[in-house]
Amino acid sequence: MSTVLGIETSCDETGIGIVSDGELLGQALASSMAEHARFGGVVPEIAARAHLEALPSVLRAALDDAGLTVSDIDAVAVTAGPGLASALHVGVAAAKALCLATGAPLYAVHHAAGHVAADLLEHGPLPARCVVLIVSGGHTSLVQVDDLARDPIVHLGDTLDDAAGEAFDKVARLLELPYPGGPSVDAAAREGDPDAIRFPRALSNRQGGQRFAFSFSGLKTAVARHVDSLTRPLTARIVADVAASFQEAVVDSLVSKSLDACGHVGARTLLIVGGVAANRRLSEVAADRCARAGVELRVPRPALCTDNGAMIAAVGDLLVRAGRPASPLEVGADPSAPLTRAALA
Ligand code: KG4
Ligand code: ZN
Repeated sequence: MSTVLGIETSCDETGIGIVSDGELLGQALASSMAEHARFGGVVPEIAARAHLEALPSVLRAALDDAGLTVSDIDAVAVTAGPGLASALHVGVAAAKALCLATGAPLYAVHHAAGHVAADLLEHGPLPARCVVLIVSGGHTSLVQVDDLARDPIVHLGDTLDDAAGEAFDKVARLLELPYPGGPSVDAAAREGDPDAIRFPRALSNRQGGQRFAFSFSGLKTAVARHVDSLTRPLTARIVADVAASFQEAVVDSLVSKSLDACGHVGARTLLIVGGVAANRRLSEVAADRCARAGVELRVPRPALCTDNGAMIAAVGDLLVRAGRPASPLEVGADPSAPLTRAALA
């Protein structure tokens, strides 16, 4: 049995996790989120420097959490893309240094494959086939996953414009809610009426080539127009209603298309992963509609939905157990890596 250490530095979270045979042994996380708040978004240079400063202590904390030392690590997995170039480079360099120091093999992995693998740490091995809705700040994809370590990832649909998380972040700004936007909209929406305003659901026609594709830019514009038409200052009640109605439109599109995709490819299990999977309304609506459709729903707990190192270790662990070849030590970061396989090189 191998012990795999995973490193995640693609955005503003410095994460390290340690996984063996599908079991999470230990993890640690540092975040530079507070340093970006006054800029309203992640500043790549600040994120990269924060990773550099945080990595030694996060590594020590993850090893301590697992009760292990560096010499117990049999393989190192790292997010090689996609993500912020300068931030990715820090993690990739750290992973290579660990491999050189210990002789462990390196596995360069795709960040979104990590989001998928996060779920097995909570709910056990993935089924032979599942549909996965990957919803984060950078991704909105509906994919078919068979054997994550061996098979190509089949894209059923992707967003044509904004990612779902991006739409949450932009709407939060329109409503003057604090950064980061997703959790703020989620919290505000709890007090609001999801039927207060009927915002558009894009590409809802089940016929044609866009059946499993998403688009959120029209919705964002509709919210912007609506907010523009409101008298200032915005009351908490109005903000809550707009947040809840916007969230309902996003959730409705995501869940409807995911269930349609399950039927289309004959999958009995739907996984929802990535930062937006932490959204409470998304889980609620998905649970209700999956139960009615006879589809098993798996959503990792919120701490495993947002970026972390454990999910990268989970992918590495799958690759090691499947006997997949390690990556060459010359492998570089790929900031715009397409999601075609779990392993990037
Ligand atoms: O997966 P993640 O941590 O990083 C990326 O890979 O992008 O996802 C971050 C995204 C952000 O856009 C954030 O606003 C969104 O996930 N998010 C949420 C919630 N928590 C995080 N969106 C809606 N509701 C939430 N509770
Ligand atoms: Zn992510």
